[in-house]
Amino acid sequence: MLVLGIETSCDETSCAIVDDNRRIHAHVILSQTARHAPHGGVVPEIAAREHLTHIDFVIARVLEQSGVTFSQLDGVAATTGPGLIGGVMVGMMAGKALAASQNIPFIGINHLEGHLLSPRLVQDCPFPYLVLLVSGGHTQILLARDVGNYELWGTTRDDAAGECFDKVAKLMGLPFPGGMYVEKLAARCKDPSHALEKFPFHIPLAHEKTLDFSFSGLKTAARNMLEKTARDENSLAEFCYAFQNIIALSLSTRCAQAFTRWRADFPELTPRFVICGGVAANGTVREKLHEVCAKELSTLFTVPHELCTDNGAMIAWAGVERLQRQSTTKLNCPARPRWPLEECVL
Ligand code: KG4
Ligand code: ZN
Repeated sequence: MLVLGIETSCDETSCAIVDDNRRIHAHVILSQTARHAPHGGVVPEIAAREHLTHIDFVIARVLEQSGVTFSQLDGVAATTGPGLIGGVMVGMMAGKALAASQNIPFIGINHLEGHLLSPRLVQDCPFPYLVLLVSGGHTQILLARDVGNYELWGTTRDDAAGECFDKVAKLMGLPFPGGMYVEKLAARCKDPSHALEKFPFHIPLAHEKTLDFSFSGLKTAARNMLEKTARDENSLAEFCYAFQNIIALSLSTRCAQAFTRWRADFPELTPRFVICGGVAANGTVREKLHEVCAKELSTLFTVPHELCTDNGAMIAWAGVERLQRQSTTKLNCPARPRWPLEECVL
């Protein structure tokens, strides 16, 4: 089974062809970062226009690289939400047109489902599993019971973790999106214990019995600390180290609590844990999650870095999973700026 997948929900125009044996036949990710950089964030109107300019080229490139022809495809999948609506419409309409012209099924994919099924593209990762979905727009703990059967256990009450990385990076004058640059600068910290002493962040909602997150307080604390910090490389590297550490700890502490609920729901089953979304590319976040999973005797499933951030392969793979279950989408389906995962039933 061969599925072509299209992703255009934010600032990556991406397309891939994936089969049901987990082979990625071709994958192209065209980033618009340089176009948005002068504005310090993604500008929806620019994003939509850029997707429109490049979508044909990206699809053609994937066909050329894979040697697959339109007539060999079994289905076309495209992100139909949630995301920046102009961009979503571009990818969705291209996908629908392609499916209609070949008379093959169209599969509208929830972008978040793309992220949370992505580990199954690279390894055996059986259901059920716990998920930490941590990206620029979302920070959620979910239980994935099966394809199209997701329970939200916790979410952020304000900013997403990636958003917090990006906003604090902007305060330091780092490029957008800033998460990766914070990580790079943190790696230059020469004295981690001094960094943690000098920048004493606290885990938000530490004393609440909840699986929810909050990051806006960290952002304010970071701003206050930065105002009093010298802008030399050493100080900023120490700041980034401490800031990255607290984000990773906030995430891992909540995840540790999720295992308690897992044990109540599945007393017989060894826990399985998936971390996905752009922030899952962060080494410290992965390391803290590894520590928690080791303590909880849980297997941790991750994906390579290029599959953490937005990409067409995860959408094509979600398309494979849905097509295998005969879950296809009508050609008159809408683009959805908001689309909770619980509404994503088969
Ligand atoms: O999943 P994604 O590509 O797009 C959304 O669906 O939001 O995630 C993008 C987010 C951005 O906030 C970016 O700063 C963050 O992921 N990110 C990172 C790293 N790489 C990407 N955050 C921390 N460390 C990284 N290495
Ligand atoms: Zn994403």
